[in-house]
Amino acid sequence: MALLDVRKLVVCVRGPQGTTTIVDGVSFSVPEESAVALVGESGSGKSLTAFSVIGLLPPGARIDRGSIQFDNRDLVTLRDREMRRIRGARIAMVFQEPSTALNPVYTIGSQIVEAVRLHRDLSSKEARALAEHWLGKVGMPSPSRAFGSYPHELSGGMKQRALLAMALVAQPALLIADEPTSSLDRTLEAQILDVVMQEREARKMGVVLVSHDLATVAEVTDRVVVMYAGQVVEERATESLVRAPAHPYTQALIASIPNPSAHAARKLGAPGPRLPVLGGAPPRFDDLPPGCRFAPRCPRVFDRCTTERPPLYPHDEGTVRCFLYAGADEASDEDERGAA
Ligand SMILES: Nc1ncnc2c1ncn2[C@@H]1O[C@H](COP(=O)(O)OP(=O)(O)OP(=O)(O)O)[C@@H](O)[C@H]1O
Ligand SMILES: [Mg+2]
Repeated sequence: MALLDVRKLVVCVRGPQGTTTIVDGVSFSVPEESAVALVGESGSGKSLTAFSVIGLLPPGARIDRGSIQFDNRDLVTLRDREMRRIRGARIAMVFQEPSTALNPVYTIGSQIVEAVRLHRDLSSKEARALAEHWLGKVGMPSPSRAFGSYPHELSGGMKQRALLAMALVAQPALLIADEPTSSLDRTLEAQILDVVMQEREARKMGVVLVSHDLATVAEVTDRVVVMYAGQVVEERATESLVRAPAHPYTQALIASIPNPSAHAARKLGAPGPRLPVLGGAPPRFDDLPPGCRFAPRCPRVFDRCTTERPPLYPHDEGTVRCFLYAGADEASDEDERGAA
């Protein structure tokens, strides 16, 4: 059984023009002890999907339909009080913006201690020791100094580490990390991901790693969910997806990885023929094309793509939303509403 199972999730946001559907029928699961990447360009709905799982959607956004199975329960139906008990203890999240996720008026230490004591009955001395232990573990050069620091006294990278310590201190079953490394340089990024993956090994923790950078996540995850304009367009085991991406969008993502030989060579192997780098931008959510959402940018577009919405087709023990894979096979029954 999967640790987390998201089915046909629909998230809407309220705007001046009325309600718009952003996350549109997203399904994916995180098998026990595995790491899954959620990848896609800015605005594709990765964070809204992640926030849905932890029950912290921003004001104006709400889950319209779908289910999120975790611990034999549907998180979508839980009351705030029940969700608060799960959040932090069973599911923890590291946010994209460390500055907004940390409270500026409390020291790092007191925020971690609070996170610990919310879920575990420890004395303040024990909680402090545990907090410093975790600050050290995430690579803070001086854990006791960091403990007494305020967020503004730390660099972006240090804040990100503090947040990670706060997330891991409760030993969650599932960690959601939303672009935990986007503000960091490559070395720090690798260190942070190392800590996450060590924890995953040591405690069999499940991980959802959100990123716009396929190269980064390819090295550490088991499966990849590629999102485009609010939908899943490809979902497969990382290695085969990276070796032979099926969706033209995934192909473009891989082709646009700068200098694959340097960074991602271990997973990517020899760089294949390079596709032209993807031009244009994703469609607006209130003005989606009538056919495939990717059609206006797709180098392999044909007639059907501009008039019909592609469902998810089964492909290589995963799925791909593209008519190029419409064989004799029926569309996957994982598919939602014909990509409405
Ligand atoms: N609170 C909100 N109110 C209105 N619209 C929102 C809100 N949050 C997100 N959106 C809309 O949903 C889209 C997807 O947002 P989301 O933050 O999930 O994207 P993302 O894939 O995480 O992007 P990024 O890589 O930039 O973090 C945004 O482009 C925006 O149009
Ligand atoms: Mg985001």
